[in-house]
Amino acid sequence: MTRFEPSGPLRGEYLPPPDKSISHRAALFGAMADEPVTVRNYLDSADTRSTLSALLTLGAAVEEDGDGLIVRGVGLHAALEATGGRLDVGNSGTLLRLLPGWLAGQPGGVWTLDGDASIRRRPVDRVAEPLRLMGAGMEARDDRFPPLTVTGGELSGIDYELPVASAQVKSCVLIAGMLAAGATTLVEARQTRDHTERMLRRARVPFGREGTTTTVSQVDELELDALTVPGDPSSAAFIAAAAMLVPGSRVVIRGMGLNWTRTGFFRIAQRMGAVVVGDLERPGTQADHEPVGDLDLASTPLEATTVEGDEVPLAIDELTLVGLLGAFAEGQTVVRGAGELRVKESDRIAGVVDGLTAIGAEAEDIGDGFAVRGGGEPPRGGVLDSRGDHRLAMLGAVAGLACPEGVEVRGMEAAAVSYPGFEADLGALLGRG
Ligand code: S3P
Repeated sequence: MTRFEPSGPLRGEYLPPPDKSISHRAALFGAMADEPVTVRNYLDSADTRSTLSALLTLGAAVEEDGDGLIVRGVGLHAALEATGGRLDVGNSGTLLRLLPGWLAGQPGGVWTLDGDASIRRRPVDRVAEPLRLMGAGMEARDDRFPPLTVTGGELSGIDYELPVASAQVKSCVLIAGMLAAGATTLVEARQTRDHTERMLRRARVPFGREGTTTTVSQVDELELDALTVPGDPSSAAFIAAAAMLVPGSRVVIRGMGLNWTRTGFFRIAQRMGAVVVGDLERPGTQADHEPVGDLDLASTPLEATTVEGDEVPLAIDELTLVGLLGAFAEGQTVVRGAGELRVKESDRIAGVVDGLTAIGAEAEDIGDGFAVRGGGEPPRGGVLDSRGDHRLAMLGAVAGLACPEGVEVRGMEAAAVSYPGFEADLGALLGRG
């Protein structure tokens, strides 16, 4: 258990850790390329180490040099060195959903993906269904959960409407689409993070996007040489929330990814009255690179807001933080249309409602989201259970800095899944560096 209590304002410059989503994709694209790809600023965390070790098992090589990681891939249509076996994805849902897209198009290979107790509760039918339609063999426990066995096949392109707003499923099908005969067309009801699309453009894969429809065509090889991973807006959001909540704080975030499909939290916070100054990318932008820049943050009184529909996927990993801000804001904050939070590393609707209630806030489960009432006395503090979920652990720590009696976080070590340096970074901004 780790205790966090009010320790004065956060002040100074802050460099967030490298982006987790983009790190996974950079390593995977490197492994699928024929020529070596340099990945600069790769995240070193439990999740992204799982990706590197799976790719090593599949025959890629990874070396470090002064400039970053050099990934020596095996090519898209790989004669994969190991034509089968077991792949441990650890706690990583992104690896669990993206990697099958590549394996599905390797005829002759049979792989089983499995991971920790949390991974075994993450649905995989969402990737099994489209990959089966494309021609791969897919078997899952109860047809829904890992272990997931992928039998590679000769794939054909499909027209597919995504049943869930999920960047992981979209990315999986786009990756398989590069290996499938003909064209693969995907329709998504809500825009989700577009890192895979940007990387496809960058790698000169025949690819188009019109409205909510994305098309990818078969390709022989990826044209990539170097990729640079920006700072992670999802990790930075925890430090940002602390700066927004602790009176007198002023933090400048340097080198953060400003991709509009990832910065929904910062726009929501602005709407709540938070001071967030910087060049957030304009919503709707399509690009072949990841924009990077600085954000200037300061604490101010906050007002409640409602988050729903199209905004949900653009802030999916930060929605629990909107709940925390809501506990300190005037009025009722509501997040709805966010049922996907139930199938993250933990049930994050239950996690945030129970966690906020445990520290004295008024929070309610509304089925596909939650409602939090703020305005009176701030939550006083207490014990918050991370449920082994990295993002709930960090939320508890931030709450502790803002609640008068502090917060004990049960299971703080989970933070290392995405952000091993979290406590050190927080300490530095609190003047304990
Ligand atoms: C991710 C997509 C999101 C997000 C996860 C990372 C990705 O998941 O919650 O942390 O890298 O594509 P879903 O696609 O399941 O919504």
